[in-house]
Amino acid sequence: MEDWSGRTILVTGAGQGIGRAIALAFGRRGASIAILDARAETAEECCSEVEAAGGRASAHVCDVANAEEVRTSVAAIGTANVLVNNAGMGRGGILTGTLEDWDRVLAVNLRGAYLMAREVAPLMRQAGGGSIIQIASTRALQSEPNSEPYAASKAGLLGLTHALAASLGAWGIRCNAICPGWIDTANYLPFAERHAPQNSASDAEQHWVGRVGRPEDIAEAAVYLSSESAGFITGQWLIIDGGMTRKMIYV
Ligand SMILES: NC(=O)c1ccc[n+]([C@@H]2O[C@H](COP(=O)([O-])OP(=O)(O)OC[C@H]3O[C@@H](n4cnc5c(N)ncnc54)[C@H](O)[C@@H]3O)[C@@H](O)[C@H]2O)c1
Repeated sequence: MEDWSGRTILVTGAGQGIGRAIALAFGRRGASIAILDARAETAEECCSEVEAAGGRASAHVCDVANAEEVRTSVAAIGTANVLVNNAGMGRGGILTGTLEDWDRVLAVNLRGAYLMAREVAPLMRQAGGGSIIQIASTRALQSEPNSEPYAASKAGLLGLTHALAASLGAWGIRCNAICPGWIDTANYLPFAERHAPQNSASDAEQHWVGRVGRPEDIAEAAVYLSSESAGFITGQWLIIDGGMTRKMIYV
C-alpha cells in the first residue's frame, strides 16, 4: 500500500461536488489536503469533513482565475506533491451567452489551471516531482448546443495537459486529465443541500454500466493517476463515463 501520509494534495474547487470527493479520497489515505475554493464557507466545511474522516486539511479562499490570489494561496501552502485542477463552471453559449460569459468560463476553467500549475510546479520540483490532474469533461470531446465556452475550455485543458507533461517531465512532474461524463454530486453538496441522488431509470439506461456516475468514480481515478503505480502515465486523458461517449445511438 502506498504511503500518502507525508504528501500535500492541492484540490481546487473542493468546497463541494467532485472536488470534495477528491479531497476526501486523498484525506482518508492520510495525505494533507489544501482545499482552494472561491467560497469560504464550503471550503471550511470540506476541511471539517476531511478531518472528521481522519485526514488533515486546510482551507484557502481563492479565485483560481486571479493570478495574485493563486500566488498568495500557493505560497501559504508552501509545499505540493499533487495538484488537482478541479474548479470549473459553465455559462452561456453562442446562441444566448455574452462575451463576458466566454471570458469568465475560459478564465476559471483554463487560465485557472495554468496559473495553478505555474505556481505549484516549482514546489513539486523541490519535492522531487509530482502529479498534476486536470478535471476536464467529456464535453471536451462532444457537445450539446449552446455550450461553446465550456466545451472550448475543457478541450483546452487536454492541450494544456500534454504541454505541461512535456515542459515539466524533466522535473519529475507528470500531468494527466480525467474526462468525467455525467456525475451526480448530490452526496457531496454542502451539508445543508445534501440529498440522495435521484436519477431515473432512463438516466441509468444511457450508460452501459447501468448507472449515472458517482464522484468517487472520479476521485479514485485521481488517486490512481497520482500514485507511484501510474509512474509511466503522463500526457494522457482518461474518459470515465460509464460508456456513454462510446454508445452508438439510432433514433
Ligand atoms: N458533475 C459533472 O457531471 C461533471 C462532468 C464533467 C466534468 N465536470 C467537471 O468537474 C469539476 C467539478 O464539477 P462539480 O459538478 O463538482 O461542480 P460544482 O459546481 O458542484 O463545484 C465546483 C466548485 O468549484 C468552485 N469554484 C467555482 N469557480 C471557482 C473559482 N473561480 N475559483 C475557485 N473555486 C471555484 C465552486 O465554489 C465549487 O465549490 C468541474 O471542473 C466540472 O466542469 C463535472
